[in-house]
Amino acid sequence: MDTQQQLDDFQRRIDNGEKIEPKDWMPERYRKQLIRIMSQHAHSEIVGMLPEGNWITRAPSLRRKVALLAKVQDEAGHGLYLYSAAETLGISRDELVEQLLDGTAKYSSIFNYPTLTWADMGAVGWLVDGAAIINQVMLTKTSYGPYARAMVRICKEESFHQRQGYEIMLALANGTEAQKQMAQDALNRFWWPSLMMFGPRDEDSPNTEQSMKWKIKKKTNDELRQQFVDQTVPQADILGLTIPDPDLKWNEERGHYDFGEIDWEEFWNVVKGNGPCNLKRLEDRNAAWDNGAWVREAAVAHAEKQAAKRVSKSA
Ligand SMILES: [Fe+2]
Ligand SMILES: [Fe+2]
Repeated sequence: MDTQQQLDDFQRRIDNGEKIEPKDWMPERYRKQLIRIMSQHAHSEIVGMLPEGNWITRAPSLRRKVALLAKVQDEAGHGLYLYSAAETLGISRDELVEQLLDGTAKYSSIFNYPTLTWADMGAVGWLVDGAAIINQVMLTKTSYGPYARAMVRICKEESFHQRQGYEIMLALANGTEAQKQMAQDALNRFWWPSLMMFGPRDEDSPNTEQSMKWKIKKKTNDELRQQFVDQTVPQADILGLTIPDPDLKWNEERGHYDFGEIDWEEFWNVVKGNGPCNLKRLEDRNAAWDNGAWVREAAVAHAEKQAAKRVSKSA
């Protein structure tokens, strides 16, 4: 049991802006909450490779293919950093992967939507990576040291992702009427799911208060969502595209955009596993894991051989 003294000392460290490191004492609930957040984040990076990986072979030019390939590889790297960072909290990578593959772990619901056209690569980079950056810039200041440090490098790569997506949108929006239509259609389909990426409303988010107190998060879901809308609307204006929200309006008094209500029924439905691609994503991850078995076995066999060599040399 955590004693009150321990909890008070811990809170004092947080309030002083100190980082918590893996070997430091921490409340069990802090550890659990971080494992949940960091593993969801790692899984999102890995599953997030699927909808875009789907378009690598169909990119319209060599330049686009190279950029998309680099981006998808970056996401694999993000997943691996984050699994390593989560392991410092005393959970093994095997356990984390198992939770993803058997469907008990969550990952960002945005990746349960299909990518139907090339313009979706633009919309995903622009909106999905754009939303991810807002969340992740905040996390560079999170109280857990290994998570904060992983985020610094990840954020640099995310801004490249966002720009490569925006550039695709810009080219399409200034292209033929059919291309502009394709860009608008992608925006129509990805706008609302992107707003959902920030999670439930603050009043429906039971962990928010404690996460803010422990400085795991420094802004609430609704604050981050507002920041995303404020940042993205002017970008849509430059593209000459229309955000599919009739209630979207600048509010002079608040100094922010007002926007319409998210379809929360759809949100919870996708979270619960009933989105358009939930099944397919899990099937694909399971197949990738099974197909990679020989690589893991070969790596273990190689390591054993090297270890045996070292033993026979020292004998
Ligand atoms: Fe990423
Ligand atoms: Fe990204």
